[in-house]
Amino acid sequence: VPAAPATAYYRPLVHADVDALAELSRRVGGVETAAQWEAFLLRPGSIALGAVADAGIVGYAAGEVRRGFGLVAPVGWVEAFGVDLDRRGEGIGRTLLGELLRRFSERDAAHVYTLVPVHDRVLAPFFRELGFRDEPLACLGCRL
Ligand SMILES: CC(C)(COP(=O)(O)OP(=O)(O)OC[C@H]1O[C@@H](n2cnc3c(N)ncnc32)[C@H](O)[C@@H]1OP(=O)(O)O)[C@@H](O)C(=O)NCCC(=O)NCCS
Repeated sequence: VPAAPATAYYRPLVHADVDALAELSRRVGGVETAAQWEAFLLRPGSIALGAVADAGIVGYAAGEVRRGFGLVAPVGWVEAFGVDLDRRGEGIGRTLLGELLRRFSERDAAHVYTLVPVHDRVLAPFFRELGFRDEPLACLGCRL
């Protein structure tokens, strides 16, 4: 009988994690490089949490609380999120999101947003399962 995977614990991500984070980002389909993780961790106000098990970092959740976009109150933004392929379905994503949202609340955010591709079949259903809904905001862009 294969050994059960080690229970993950959760801690803030730090500079020493950036290479492992870049590797994990690549595995889960993200785009963040080690340099981008480093810049993110240095950004004032950023919040980055990791799920850690025997093998190292198996999940991350990162974002910040900010004002702007004409919104009257500070809002938490989930900017990067991923759980390693062989650790999915264990509740790690749910716990990571809960921990991130708790920290957003502590920084006076009463609402949280994230952006996912319209046809994303993994992150979008996950966020919907955890209570996120379509917002009355349009995401507009143009090529530069
Ligand atoms: C989405 C993701 C974070 C889920 O992580 P996870 O640890 O497997 O999620 P959990 O086990 O905590 O699941 C929590 C709940 O969401 C549900 N869920 C998870 N993934 C789901 C999916 N793809 N569709 C529907 N529901 C889903 C689970 O059923 C679970 O509900 P339950 O507790 O009632 O059983 C993970 O699949 C992932 O990292 N995907 C890739 C993300 C990515 O592309 N990142 C890079 C761009 S930022």
